[in-house]
Amino acid sequence: MMTVTTNAAEKQNINHLSSEEKMQLAKAIYANTSYFEQMFHASQIEINCQPFADQFQQAISRLLLEKKLIPAAIPLERLHECLADEMRAYNFNDGINQISTHFYETDASFMQIYYDFIRFLQTALVHEPFLFQATPTIRIHCPNAENSHHYPRYHTDIGYGHPPEEINVWLPLTPLLDGHSFRLMSVAESKKLLGRFDYDFNAFIGHAIHNHVFSRECDLLSQPVTTAFGRLLAFDSRSVHTGEPLKTHTRISIDIRIVPVKQFALRAVDYQGSGRRKILFQPGHCYHEKNSQQLSGEE
Ligand SMILES: [Fe+2]
Repeated sequence: MMTVTTNAAEKQNINHLSSEEKMQLAKAIYANTSYFEQMFHASQIEINCQPFADQFQQAISRLLLEKKLIPAAIPLERLHECLADEMRAYNFNDGINQISTHFYETDASFMQIYYDFIRFLQTALVHEPFLFQATPTIRIHCPNAENSHHYPRYHTDIGYGHPPEEINVWLPLTPLLDGHSFRLMSVAESKKLLGRFDYDFNAFIGHAIHNHVFSRECDLLSQPVTTAFGRLLAFDSRSVHTGEPLKTHTRISIDIRIVPVKQFALRAVDYQGSGRRKILFQPGHCYHEKNSQQLSGEE
């Protein structure tokens, strides 16, 4: 039997659960109605955020020049034209390329836009205080990159240890052109798919990586994300998704995860990343120590 404590300070760490307990927890997560579903009656929604798309785009262009990653300004969707092969190549295991690693750190000016964006999300999307990813994830995907066959890699962030109470927020910083090469599945289809693996995320991801027939099946069950530049996509963290190899242009996007403070308090266990860094999904770790309400404008 799973023993889940209710005291906020004394949650059990997810890594202390047995495989069977993890599967039971995942099954319950998919059986329940999520906060996202209650709020939006859908697996995903889009809203306008044009001023932030513009500001983030300008900031990325500025940082590319300041970090001396490109010799002169170029439209971001053509960035690959200026980058050497080794900047565009993926590490096959984690699907990360060198150019993206240069954006693990940004600067105060970029972060000010990010904090303004967080305050905007509270007004326009969530309408209550939420925890948010301390450092936004900036992804730069280029066409014709070595090890592009890392993708697709269908997954849910929950399968990598993230709390199911999270909402994923994704916005493109390049135009759609021939596609963002990002696919998303509804919660209903994701649930059916994971049900076939008894909600064993490891079995699911193993198939998604190694079984090409299964991966093709996921292609058929998912839809390409077509969010226009100037809009953002928010989706239920239970939705299966993946990146794909880019065809002809560079796609740059920002993704973050947020959790309403009240939902975070209801979590069944303390969540921890299953990756190399074993990051804790707690304020002051993965999440900013302040919540969206506490941001004053001078962070
Ligand atoms: Fe993901």
